[in-house]
Amino acid sequence: MSANFIGGSHAFAAEGLRPMTAAALDGVVVLEASVYAFPWSRGNFIDSLAAGYTAWTLNGAFGELLGYCVAMHGVAEMHLLNITVAAPVRQRGYARQMIGELVTFCQREGARRLWLEVRESNLEAQATYARLGFAAVGKRKGYYPAPEGRREDAVVMSLGIAIDGVVDALD
Ligand SMILES: CC(C)(COP(=O)(O)OP(=O)(O)OC[C@H]1O[C@@H](n2cnc3c(N)ncnc32)[C@H](O)[C@@H]1OP(=O)(O)O)[C@@H](O)C(=O)NCCC(=O)NCCS
Repeated sequence: MSANFIGGSHAFAAEGLRPMTAAALDGVVVLEASVYAFPWSRGNFIDSLAAGYTAWTLNGAFGELLGYCVAMHGVAEMHLLNITVAAPVRQRGYARQMIGELVTFCQREGARRLWLEVRESNLEAQATYARLGFAAVGKRKGYYPAPEGRREDAVVMSLGIAIDGVVDALD
């Protein structure tokens, strides 16, 4: 885990993370469709829940949906598949909060590394992840769909999780 991970400059606090339920999917799917040119479908979320992926919503004081994340457990690692914060409440520390909870979950489960892919053009998300301690470690060619039938490369990013004070180096 990066030394700069814990803390951060934001005083805002959401009510908290809840396990994503089928009942939450109406709001999740609307937010997803408002954010991405190639959004996950309702079926993608249903499949993730059915597969037992770690999926949380982040809700405000009145229950309003602020964001969500979905992560898949691997052998001693986790893969962050989706993290989304509603546009009006970005840069208030909510992604930091969700990824912080994922790091705690990884530590509890013995997962030593958190992985993700991000579009090469998504510089804001890459800056966020770098700020949270992730390092860019590679690329996947043509990983994402793009307009007019084209494909876009993914940047692969990785965060080492400290367990008993030790962070495994990348092989
Ligand atoms: C990427 C995203 C999840 C970040 O969520 P967020 O709640 O705004 O992020 P946070 O407020 O927790 O920011 C975490 C850190 O990243 C920094 N950061 C956030 N947005 C940034 C930006 N656009 N540019 C530079 N740094 C940024 C913050 O300053 C913060 O650092 P600090 O706490 O040390 O000041 C959000 O912008 C989003 O949902 N984007 C659209 C969907 C998307 O691209 N998801 C990722 C797909 S791979």
